[in-house]
Amino acid sequence: MAVAPTFHVIPGSTVKTVIENNRKKVFEAVEAAYRLHAAGDSVNPDSYFLRFPDKPSSRIIALPAHLGGAVQKSGIKWISSFPSNRASNLARASAVLILNDGETGYPLACIEASLISSTRTAASAALAAEHMTPDPFTGTLGVIGTGVIARNTVEWLLFRKWTFSKVNLFDLDRKEAEQFAKRLREQHKIEAEIRSSIEETLRDSSLSLFTTTALEPYLSDEKLFAHAPTVLHLSLRDIAVNVILAAQNVVDDVDHCLKAKTSPHLAEIATGNRNFLAGTLVDVMEKKVTPDRNKARIFSPFGLGVLDLAVGNYVLDEAIASKAGIALPDFFSNSARW
Ligand SMILES: NC(=O)c1ccc[n+]([C@@H]2O[C@H](COP(=O)([O-])OP(=O)(O)OC[C@H]3O[C@@H](n4cnc5c(N)ncnc54)[C@H](O)[C@@H]3O)[C@@H](O)[C@H]2O)c1
Repeated sequence: MAVAPTFHVIPGSTVKTVIENNRKKVFEAVEAAYRLHAAGDSVNPDSYFLRFPDKPSSRIIALPAHLGGAVQKSGIKWISSFPSNRASNLARASAVLILNDGETGYPLACIEASLISSTRTAASAALAAEHMTPDPFTGTLGVIGTGVIARNTVEWLLFRKWTFSKVNLFDLDRKEAEQFAKRLREQHKIEAEIRSSIEETLRDSSLSLFTTTALEPYLSDEKLFAHAPTVLHLSLRDIAVNVILAAQNVVDDVDHCLKAKTSPHLAEIATGNRNFLAGTLVDVMEKKVTPDRNKARIFSPFGLGVLDLAVGNYVLDEAIASKAGIALPDFFSNSARW
């Protein structure tokens, strides 16, 4: 007989501990979620964007989703992006994830989700990097926009055993790049070079990471990708249509990514078709699409709610097992009908 669950609150400190102690399992959860989604064992409707006319750079996004397979949970991530927070040393993004039981629909937990979100984004970028690079795990790295997502992505690349003979950094705010370089030196013993232009950063980077908060494309010189790098275009709106059209393009989900004025969406508007897309990341993982050595290979992931569910579900199970979650047994005190 179905009963109301004990509701749990999972604070950020617990999320951090679980993720840091279980990176392999978290990576596997992200990979499995992509495969379930590609196999149709998920429901992932459009994200809903709450925007503010008087604050065009800020937004709050709702990502509802359901994931089948071994997960069998639904949920919603509610994630804010307020870039002006940076001036107060406050993270741009803040989020909660509500997980619901697949059988009763009851909410199971409220989980701090900024780290879940950055983790699934970074782990999926690392997954894409190794599948989309013809000779993966070595090379030179260029990071454009050295914030929180870039930091997490580099950590996941290192966890997956990438080694870089050189790391180039560029940020419009040089202080951000300096912080990033300091952290790389102190935590990973990596010496990075801070570059004064995008051109210098990209020219000798075989793997490029875009993690800016640009609202409109600014990179329109195709020559910058003449050396056929792998490009992790996580911020989605940096690369101009002509550069997209000259590259091999891979997305996480076609219908999702061709929305909200992402670079691939602008390419679709400009050409009237989707022929410039080679396929999805799962197509590459399943070798239905072969990485093209002779072109830039650009991964533009819209960011799927099913990935948040997969990581959140893993974190919740571990938190409950280690008694690190805050249990609220009376939360659904009115659940009996009579
Ligand atoms: N695709 C996904 O699934 C996904 C998921 C999470 C975040 N994101 C995106 O990743 C981006 C980065 O997020 P974050 O949390 O690291 O943000 P952040 O604010 O911590 O860092 C962004 C950095 O980019 C710099 N920057 C902004 N515009 C720039 C430009 N034109 N050139 C160089 N540097 C520039 C800023 O100075 C800042 O240091 C955001 O756009 C966010 O929407 C994507």
